[in-house]
Formats: sequence, structure tokens, C-alpha cells
Amino acid sequence: MSARPIYFDCDTGVDDALALAYLIASDKAQLRGIGTVSGNTDSATAARNTLDLLQLAGATNVPVAIGERDFMTRSYDGGAPHVHGANGIGNIVLPKSTTEPSAESAVDLLLRLAHEAEGKLHLIAVGPLTNIARALEREPRLPELVDGITIMGGAAEVPGNITPVAEANIANDPEAAAAVFAAGWTVTMVPLDVTMTQVLEAEDRERLAASGTEFEQALAQMLGHYFEFYREIYGRACCAMHDPLAVAVALGDVEITSAPLVRAQVDTTNGPGRGQTICDLRAKYRGYPDQSRANCRPVLGITGDFPSQLTQLLLEPTAQVLS
Ligand code: RIB
Ligand code: CA
Repeated sequence: MSARPIYFDCDTGVDDALALAYLIASDKAQLRGIGTVSGNTDSATAARNTLDLLQLAGATNVPVAIGERDFMTRSYDGGAPHVHGANGIGNIVLPKSTTEPSAESAVDLLLRLAHEAEGKLHLIAVGPLTNIARALEREPRLPELVDGITIMGGAAEVPGNITPVAEANIANDPEAAAAVFAAGWTVTMVPLDVTMTQVLEAEDRERLAASGTEFEQALAQMLGHYFEFYREIYGRACCAMHDPLAVAVALGDVEITSAPLVRAQVDTTNGPGRGQTICDLRAKYRGYPDQSRANCRPVLGITGDFPSQLTQLLLEPTAQVLS
């Protein structure tokens, strides 16, 4: 099976870094380009983090374009230092890449790559959806020009993580998310329903730390800060696997047990529901017979031990990664 051409849109953060590592290590992905967006940190810092990680991994041939700093209806307001550290990658300092961000914007890069890939480009978005929404404004036919889109975001039947109902990527820019869900494609959504069940444990981190490569060791180091945030949630040093799981779903690397084709909408009101991904799951008792208005495939269940699978791939890449 040939590698899948990928455009990766991220707010490089710690779990975004693990997702990037997955894309670099997997022979199922052909990483064509990366756009950064504000979320965990600002889009420029996310690009810096991404370039430094790419250089450490020996993957300096991937263009990285800085995307939207502000959201559709509000300015960026500082990110999530309590989760991802002040610099977005757990406050660790990486060797500075000699490669600079692309001169084009993330939207320019995304649209160029879509045309070059002639319908085969798959979008994986693991941050707020601002860049994707801006690309849709510029090119409303984008859904017809690409192979599809997989996002990490939302919560269908479980609580949010920013508010009782809203997950961070959606909550940061509900208007962008609403536009993406309304664009005419089917959004594969990898929500907290599954990402919060896939937990990277201390022993997984220790295996990365003990690896022989600077890249995996840097990933292990940045997990330190991230683990402490999740200690409050799970009661032990560990972390949920949000963004890497979205990559695994997009590459077909996890067995999905439930991913119904349903109608989904995003609450863009300014009330307590703002940022909620409202998936219409009412037909679950009849096997979802009517999919005529469907625009979303929320992944609600998977089997297997994804964190161990991820660790194994990072330690033994299947792709030929230049060292
Ligand atoms: O809610 C988790 C998501 O928000 C992840 O993508 C994390 O990196 C942050 O962007
Ligand atoms: Ca992210």
C-alpha cells in the first residue's frame, strides 16, 4: 500500500509533537507539509517547535508554514502553558533548526499541496480549525480537491476538557469548527470519547527516554510537564493520547469498533454550550439507517493498546528516517 500524502495542521504542543513523530516514523504517511495554528501556543512558536522537532528527527525536507495567530472571532489569548509549558513543548529547549518557516501561509501551503496531490491529499488537523476554515473561505471547493479530513477534537458522549461540554480545539474556535463541519465533506472526528481512554504510562515514557536517539529522548523530556498536568486528572503521572490517535485513525492503524456516520453541529452561541460538538446519535438503537444528512464520523470506540503501539513505532520506525 503506498504512503498516504498528508497535510498536518497543528498547534505544537506536546501531544502534537508525538503525532508529528508518528507521521515521521510511519511508512504509511508521506508528510507533504505542515501548517501551524494558535492553540496550545501561538502559531509562530508552534512553527518554531515543529521545525526544531523535524530537524532533530532528520526530516528537514518538510515545509512548515505559519498559520493563523488569531481565531475567527477573537484574538489568541495565551494558550495552555499549564498543560504544554510556556513554550508549548513542556519547557524543554531543543537545538534550533537551521530551517526557517516557509514564506507562504498555512492556507497557501494547504491549497498548493491539495492541487499538487491531485485529489489524494488527506488533511489531519490536531489544533483549532482556523486554518482549515480560512482555506475553505479562499477555496470553497476544497472538500472536492482532497481525499478527506481527520481531526482530533470534540466530545460526543463524554464531557469536554475546557468546559463541561467543549473540547479545547473546538472551544478555541467554534466558528471555524462549525464552518469545517458544514463544508460538505465527511469529517472523521477523533474526540475525547476515545482519546481519553488511551493513556501513555510512565513505563512508555521510560522506554522513549532509554532509546538511543536524541529525538525520542526529547519527546520523553517534554512529557514530564504534560504528565504532571494529567496527574490531576488520572491520579498518576501519565497522559491522554489525543493527537497521535488522530494520526493512527487517519493511517488506518487502529481497529475501530464504533464510528457511526451522523449529523454533527457545533454550538457557536455564547451560552454554556459554546464549543460543544453536537452529534445526533439518536438512531443508535436502529443502526443509523438514515445517513442522508451525515457530515461526521465520530470515532467512539477502538480496540487495542494504542500507547504501546505508538511507543513501539517510535522506537522502531517503519519509515526510512534520515538520522
Ligand atoms: O483537547 C486536546 C487537544 O487540544 C489536543 O490537540 C491538544 O494538543 C490541544 O490542541
Ligand atoms: Ca493539538
